[in-house]
Amino acid sequence: MKILVTGGLGFIGSHTVVELQNKGFDVVIIDDCSNSDEKVLEGIERITGIKPIFEKLDLKEKDKVEDFFHRYKDIEGVIHFAASKAVGESVENPLLYYENNIGTLVYILKELCKKNKASFIFSSSCTVYGQADKMPITENAPVKQAESPYGNTKQMGEEIIRDTCKVTPNLNAIALRYFNPMGAHPSAEIGELPIGVPQNLVPFITQTGAGLREQLSVFGDDYPTPDGTCIRDYIYVVDLAKAHVVALERLLGNKNKDNYEVFNVGTGTGSSVLEAIQSFEKVSGKKLNYKIVERRPGDITTAYADTTKANEVLGWKAEYTLDEAMESAWVWEQKIRSC
Ligand SMILES: NC(=O)c1ccc[n+]([C@@H]2O[C@H](COP(=O)([O-])OP(=O)(O)OC[C@H]3O[C@@H](n4cnc5c(N)ncnc54)[C@H](O)[C@@H]3O)[C@@H](O)[C@H]2O)c1
Repeated sequence: MKILVTGGLGFIGSHTVVELQNKGFDVVIIDDCSNSDEKVLEGIERITGIKPIFEKLDLKEKDKVEDFFHRYKDIEGVIHFAASKAVGESVENPLLYYENNIGTLVYILKELCKKNKASFIFSSSCTVYGQADKMPITENAPVKQAESPYGNTKQMGEEIIRDTCKVTPNLNAIALRYFNPMGAHPSAEIGELPIGVPQNLVPFITQTGAGLREQLSVFGDDYPTPDGTCIRDYIYVVDLAKAHVVALERLLGNKNKDNYEVFNVGTGTGSSVLEAIQSFEKVSGKKLNYKIVERRPGDITTAYADTTKANEVLGWKAEYTLDEAMESAWVWEQKIRSC
């Protein structure tokens, strides 16, 4: 079966391409390399022995998207990762985010609506919950007012898919709400490649450990949590990638109960910033240079998933621990520094 993976050269997309190919799917990647490198294809090939078909294409170009689906009539499923994801940049330039994250989604859905049957997986985020009132967070927790245009594109994206599915019985979709993806493939052939200053905690930790950054700032230790630092649910990227394959198989095998479904993808365990630092120190044997600074505006205190629905309905469960995921991130960081 031929599957389109948009943003397939990116962090989560590349790991998902590997898991799809391991399961025998025929993968076509679309990526414009705005936040990735074509060399990722070689990493994928070294892991799986297969170089996926690659189309360098900007999904903002509607005509090119139409032309792609015209050329690849046999695409049966789409996993849509391609998006811009820097929260701060989205505040500075909201239209860029609405164009890239919403425009591209609409163009792809329009093409899928023309098909007799189509399966669609969307990269959503736990940001849709904001600071949830209850932990762990279930899929029924209310969606809160978005804190940024980026977060809003995930909420709007889900609404667009839900509304489209309502009037398009041939379209089957699943939105996966990721918690905090981290780590790298155990082969260290692919991993996260942040351009500029990392937005996420783990690459900032590993870059500081590798000496690329002088110091890690921990934003606040006076939150109402056991050690005072914010708590997140760190999910290993290979576990996350496997969740996409399981979700896609659910749709392709007509096992879905509704033609639009939503699942949390996390571990169900919250870890504080200090626990993440301790995990790094344990797996690397290095002391991390960090400093507690003022709270950062917009940071929520605690977010971790209730994964019961994904466990029971999808039959998927995260397998790796924070230490294992951290170790993979550290091995990857050392590898990219030595190249
Ligand atoms: N990484 C996270 O912490 C996280 C958390 C929740 C949700 N998500 C979502 O998951 C998805 C993948 O995230 P990621 O961390 O792998 O990001 P990433 O930036 O590594 O990957 C996205 C890929 O999409 C490509 N792309 C962007 N705009 C494009 C366009 N117009 N046309 C073609 N390609 C385009 C980029 O070049 C990049 O390779 C995104 O939708 C993101 O919002 C990520």
